[in-house]
Amino acid sequence: MTRRIYLDHNATTPLRPEALDAMMPYLTERHGNASSLHADGREAREAVEAARETVAEVIGAQPPEIIFTSGGTESNNHALRGVLTEHRAHRSGLVTSAVEHHAVLETALALARERFNLRIVGVDGTGRIDLDALADEVSDQTALVSLMHANNETGTIQPIEEAARIARKRGALFHTDAVQTVGKLRVRVEATGIDLLSMSAHKFGGPKGVGALYARRNIKLERLHHGGMHERSRRGGTENVPGIVGMVTALRLAHTEMATESERLQALTAYFLEQARKELDGFKVNSPEERGAGTINLSFERVDGESLVLGLDLAGISVSTGSACASGSMEPSHVLEAMGVPKELARGTVRFSFGHGNTREDADATVDALKRLLERSRRERTE
Ligand SMILES: Cc1ncc(COP(=O)(O)O)c(C=O)c1O
Repeated sequence: MTRRIYLDHNATTPLRPEALDAMMPYLTERHGNASSLHADGREAREAVEAARETVAEVIGAQPPEIIFTSGGTESNNHALRGVLTEHRAHRSGLVTSAVEHHAVLETALALARERFNLRIVGVDGTGRIDLDALADEVSDQTALVSLMHANNETGTIQPIEEAARIARKRGALFHTDAVQTVGKLRVRVEATGIDLLSMSAHKFGGPKGVGALYARRNIKLERLHHGGMHERSRRGGTENVPGIVGMVTALRLAHTEMATESERLQALTAYFLEQARKELDGFKVNSPEERGAGTINLSFERVDGESLVLGLDLAGISVSTGSACASGSMEPSHVLEAMGVPKELARGTVRFSFGHGNTREDADATVDALKRLLERSRRERTE
């Protein structure tokens, strides 16, 4: 069997073998509950607290500021709902961008249905938030500004430092969904003015179903999960010890390799684009120059993105579309729509997200396959 080419790292990444090795004892003989008083429990507790220290160190936080969660979706839900409900007596506003992941947007919309005041700020053609519009929307009534660090579809990096400054000026808290950047780009919460930050292990070589929320000390946060006294009474539920151990093992590795790996991925995606420009025609590049390493989003004219994804899949290449299934038909993503990509062109969108194991050969093979598929489907369209 020939090796498949995996170019969908923004969806999820393969588990790093080192993370699996580190997890194995906690899936087998080290089975203790981190809340138990006996030796088995203490062993689990030590692993969890050591992991907390690592996460804190990587993002420039203090260990008590880290809450382990079930992943990016829970962290985002907790940040938004936790701040809004806690501060409801004084401030009821939430400001976010039009290009957030559904884990933020859907939570924001749910809060709006509960009568919180939601303002959604637009982006320019590169997917970057309009900072003037953001400043206009943030008021003394705003409890939280939530702006993602890098976009999962286009790789666009948001000016989070400036956005955090705007929030702080009005006394609002600032949250960033850094699910696509932790382990890939340097993120320092203290220096950037971040009050809350979401991360997810499976985006940087860790296991699925585990993540963390950073919440600056002294921030009042309503609980999302009611239950026991876990996580300093901020999140009820027995800690996922193997998951947490796997997450920090992957995080440590990603962090150590970050500088070289991000440079390598920038060069690799630049090479992919160069080859695509040489060999293919009729496409628009939606990812800006300044992007999260690894992500290239392209819209192809006169083809359907879904059929390209399926064709590439048959050729052994895994990528994603830029569409979402809405009531049975493929609709262009809200991100491309917010960027003003015409609907017809947006339908031909494919996201390529390169990662750890990818090489120039993968880029070449993908361009070759795309060339064949584009020729065939455009020919069929005109016949
Ligand atoms: C930007 C962003 N936020 C949040 C999430 C959700 O994370 P999880 O899959 O850990 O729930 C994702 C995953 O696709 C994402 O890309």
